[in-house]
Parts: sequence; C-alpha cells; structure tokens
Amino acid sequence: METLRVAVIGGGFIGKQHMEAIRRIPGTQIVAISEMFEASAKKLAEEQAIPAWYTDYKEMLEKEKPDVVHICTPNNTHFQIAKDVIEFGAYAYCEKPLGMNSKETEELARLVVEKGTKAGVNFNYRQNAMVREMHERIHGEINDPIGPVGKVYAVRGHYLQDWMMYDTDYNWRVVPALGGVSRTIADIGSHWFDTAQYVTGHKIVKVFCDMQTVIPQRKKPLKQVRTFETAAPEEYELVDISSEDSAFVIVEFDDGTKGQVTLSQVAGGHKNDLQVDVDGSNYSMTWQQEYADKLDINHRQIGNIVRFAGPDMVSGDAVRYAQLSSGHSVGWADALKNTISEFYRTLRGAEVNYATFTEADYVVRIVEACLKSAEEGRWVEVKPSEVLMKTLADHGMTFR
Ligand SMILES: NC(=O)c1ccc[n+]([C@@H]2O[C@H](COP(=O)([O-])OP(=O)(O)OC[C@H]3O[C@@H](n4cnc5c(N)ncnc54)[C@H](O)[C@@H]3O)[C@@H](O)[C@H]2O)c1
Repeated sequence: METLRVAVIGGGFIGKQHMEAIRRIPGTQIVAISEMFEASAKKLAEEQAIPAWYTDYKEMLEKEKPDVVHICTPNNTHFQIAKDVIEFGAYAYCEKPLGMNSKETEELARLVVEKGTKAGVNFNYRQNAMVREMHERIHGEINDPIGPVGKVYAVRGHYLQDWMMYDTDYNWRVVPALGGVSRTIADIGSHWFDTAQYVTGHKIVKVFCDMQTVIPQRKKPLKQVRTFETAAPEEYELVDISSEDSAFVIVEFDDGTKGQVTLSQVAGGHKNDLQVDVDGSNYSMTWQQEYADKLDINHRQIGNIVRFAGPDMVSGDAVRYAQLSSGHSVGWADALKNTISEFYRTLRGAEVNYATFTEADYVVRIVEACLKSAEEGRWVEVKPSEVLMKTLADHGMTFR
C-alpha cells in the first residue's frame, strides 16, 4: 500500500483529534502541520512528533507536497484554504461547516467536480457503528428476530451542549466574521441534519425554525482562548451577541417524512448530547452520541432492547464499524477514525461513504433556510444549487 503524505492545518481542539485519528489508519504519514503562530506551530510539532511545521500553509504545500490536507481551522478560513489546496492538486479534507455561506460552498463543490478530484467534509457522526446500524435497519437486510424498522413515521432528536451557558463563555464562533451568521444551527445543527439525512437516505427539503439568543452580551477574554477553555474573570471586555444560542426546527424530508430537532449550546449538563430517533411502523430506534456504542430498539410488544455495537449485533455495512466484540465500547474517537478512513479508502479507489463537498453545500443551504424561516416566521424550502446540479450533470455525476 502506498503511503499517503498528510498535512494538517490548524492544531486546536479538532486538529489534534484528526492527528490522532490519522495515526490509527494504516498507510498514512503526517508530514507537516501549519499553525497561526511560530511558537504554537513549533510546540505542536514537537508534542506530536511531526517532522515539519509552518505558519504559512501555502509554503507548506509547496515544500511538503502532501497528498491530503486536513483543514481544521475556524469557519471563515475554510473557503480560501480549501480552494488553495484543491488548486494546488492535493485532496482536501475539511472541517464543517464547509464555508461561511452557500456562495462559498457552491464554488468549492463546483471546483471539486470540475477538477475531477475528491474532497471530503468531516461529518463524523454518520460513521458511528450504531448510526450505520440505524441506516441498515431502514434500508438493509435484517436477519435478526427483531427485523427492520418498517415504514418511517417520523425522525426526531436534539443536539444539546452547555459549554456556552454562561456569559463568560466566549469563542470565535460567536463572532459572525469568524464563525458565520449562524452559530448553534451551523455548528451543531449541521451535524444533526447530516446524520438524519444519512440515516433516512432522504434530503431535508423544508424547514420551519424559531431561535433565540438568551445571552445577548458575552464577556470576551482579552487573550486567545481555545474551544472548551475559559479565561480568568478579570480579563474581559463586554460584546454584543447576534448569533443564536438555541433553535427549534421542524423538518420535512423529500419522501414527505416529518421530523423535529432541538438545538442548544446553553442546555445545562448536556455536553455533546446528539440524539437521533426514528419512529417506524415496527418499532422506534434511539441513538445517543454520549452512549455511542448502544442502539435502543423500542418495541411495543417485545419491549425495549439495548443492542451493543459488535460484529454479531449489527447488520450489513455497519459490521465494518463494529469490529470489536460487543461490550468493548466504541465511541467518538472511533467514529472520527472511521470517517477519515472512509475518505482515504475512497482515495485508494474503494466506493465507500463519506460526506462530499456537494453534500456539505446542501447542509449549508439547510442552515440558511432555517435562518430565513426564523426571520420570516414561515416554512422555507431547501433547494440544491442549480449551477452545481448542472455542473454535476455536465460531468455525468448525480447529486447524492
Ligand atoms: N466535526 C466535529 O465534530 C468538530 C468538532 C469541533 C470543531 N469542528 C470544526 O473544526 C474547526 C476548528 O474548530 P476548533 O474547535 O478546533 O477551533 P480551535 O479554536 O480550538 O482551533 C482552531 C486552530 O486553528 C488555528 N488557525 C486559525 N487560522 C489558521 C491559519 N490560517 N493557519 C493555520 N492555523 C490556523 C488556530 O490558531 C487554532 O489553533 C471549525 O470549523 C469547527 O466547526 C468540528
């Protein structure tokens, strides 16, 4: 197997997780990292035992000639960095949301199609073993006594966090020029939308959204603070906040199925509480990210069954993601590894599932439709980019 030369741009919260995940995948070598400042770049390279560090990612591309580049920087930088990486000729693997708005994401998605390259977006929750099992229970062959879920009646869920619950909680995500106009919907709602679409196999085509900013002013630390870190209380300035702390979204999928999701970054005690429920004609299923290796199957007559991830407990494609025997818990880090591994397998010619730039563009359009719905107090349709659809058709590709 040929070794893929990998570079990572941005070594904050998620960048370090990418590095760990990459190192679990055979046939990869992290050759360089790029960070904003010399001191942090150098320190990170030393800590991670990475041979080269840069503060200018373009210089890194020129000198290191990586095959794959992971983009793990704040949202406002994704567009330019991804464009530069693709134009340089490397494969881009970008964090979500892919861009600040659909103008940016449409251009990136078109560029990928026109260049005939591959580029992925880190929607990592769809690669959990039990999320894939939910997908199988809707679409696949189920050979256990419980059988498939049947006709899908509704898709429900939430994504709740509490790390922005106090006015002293501050992060680049609250600055529209860095994080985007939307915060909670774009930051965590995007994950729920992708996961729900993956599980059902259907696109969200209509949304009705209400949202609120419950902390209208936050205390901005006078020095840089990374995700999930806090600064000392005396070192703040007060800033106005325009992005939403929570949102309540009703959705409709392209087969007419209805759904609903609650999103919040100010829900006390909820850390990374992503939940997806599917109500079917045979039973309902619940997957909770904080108990990632379990799937609840709730049956009216049989009762409630907890399935643990394990090769003998899941079906079809999910078996690839549940290689440890049941009870050996798999979790967040395993799903991230699976996500990146799927993209790398695609680069090596396998036909496997990863989130494309086209899909990520569509998720940004769902977020934009939510904002419009909240502003205008009405249902708003989500439509794929016509220009992108034409570009795909011109290249013999279909929208997925
Ligand atoms: N998929 C997930 O589950 C998940 C989880 C967390 C974050 N994210 C996404 O990852 C991205 C980063 O988020 P984070 O929480 O790691 O932020 P962070 O603030 O912890 O880290 C960002 C890092 O990028 C560096 N950086 C900024 N501009 C740079 C540039 N031009 N060149 C090199 N380095 C640069 C910063 O110095 C910082 O170290 C965001 O887009 C976020 O939405 C995804």
